[in-house]
Amino acid sequence: MTPIRNVLIIGGSGFVGTALAERLTADGCRLVIPTRHRERARHLLPLPMVDVREADLFDPPTLATLMTGMDAVVNLVGVLHSRSGSPFGPDFARAHVELPKRLVAAARQAGVQRIVHVSALGASADAPSEYQRSKAAGEAEIRAAAPDVAWTILRPSVIFGPGDSFLNLFAGLLRRFPVLPLGGAGARFQPVYVGDVADVIAEAFLRSDAAGQTFDMAGPTRYSLQELVEYVGDLTGCPRPVIPLPEGLAMLQAGLLEMLPGPLMSRDNVRSMRAPNVSDGPPQPWGRVPTPLEVIAPMYLGKSNKRCRYTAFQLHRP
Ligand SMILES: NC(=O)c1ccc[n+]([C@@H]2O[C@H](COP(=O)([O-])OP(=O)(O)OC[C@H]3O[C@@H](n4cnc5c(N)ncnc54)[C@H](OP(=O)(O)O)[C@@H]3O)[C@@H](O)[C@H]2O)c1
Repeated sequence: MTPIRNVLIIGGSGFVGTALAERLTADGCRLVIPTRHRERARHLLPLPMVDVREADLFDPPTLATLMTGMDAVVNLVGVLHSRSGSPFGPDFARAHVELPKRLVAAARQAGVQRIVHVSALGASADAPSEYQRSKAAGEAEIRAAAPDVAWTILRPSVIFGPGDSFLNLFAGLLRRFPVLPLGGAGARFQPVYVGDVADVIAEAFLRSDAAGQTFDMAGPTRYSLQELVEYVGDLTGCPRPVIPLPEGLAMLQAGLLEMLPGPLMSRDNVRSMRAPNVSDGPPQPWGRVPTPLEVIAPMYLGKSNKRCRYTAFQLHRP
């Protein structure tokens, strides 16, 4: 296989993209990271060999230019909210289906040899949520890249790590409110460390047996949402009573939250929790041992917890 040196990371300004950019630049790759707003990718500028470009990915000549000279492309674009529609709304369609379709066409045209696409665990044409159905349609667009472009699809459960928007969201809510009414409290998750996701993407570039494969990305342990929220409460020193909401009330709560800008939760999010977000097979490819939540989460959530503060003090003592 030709070594992968030049990588285009679509959606690379976000949470996973940042971890991946750190990992790939450490491996000596040159990265091009397009963004709709340069300001959003400012934190990537200090990394060596990263070219951040403000770009409209839906403009064909722009996309063709971005693809030129690339050995591989990684697609990390994902949205959690959309106007509603059947089988999925227009914003899901644009980000999760139309964009992968355009990426495949442009990669083929430019002779890019590899594409790694991050989808989501639970993506399926008959899944309960529009998010999951649109992710399944996006996977189909990526698989159509073969044989011209070798593809690999990763399907993560919820991803944790410094800067995540899942555990940090609950940490913020627990700090602010004395009790937490929680929709989907019994929903099952198998959280995966963002560093594991970045490692698998980097390794997929090196392995010929990654081509044409779809891999789950999950952690070693399954938890209910309530267990995760209670764990975050313990870590942050803000343990609060969690009140599980029946689905009817959870939908009502989500419907109200949808009216806010950048909603915390939507009715589609509630529907997505009807199916367990866990892996039925190996949690990660190639016999990798997943990183436990309990090893990483205390490092970024545990600051207000006395014991963690003490550990941090010990670690940073000269
Ligand atoms: N985080 C999780 O727990 C999780 C779990 C399962 C699956 N996933 C999937 O993993 C991938 C990466 O997730 P993430 O957490 O890193 O997401 P993220 O932090 O929200 O970053 C996604 C990036 O996509 C770009 N983007 C969003 N909408 C776009 C649009 N309409 N057109 C062009 N660019 C757009 C944004 O870049 P700019 O604003 O800079 O343009 C953003 O930085 C996504 O596909 C997500 O669905 C994530």
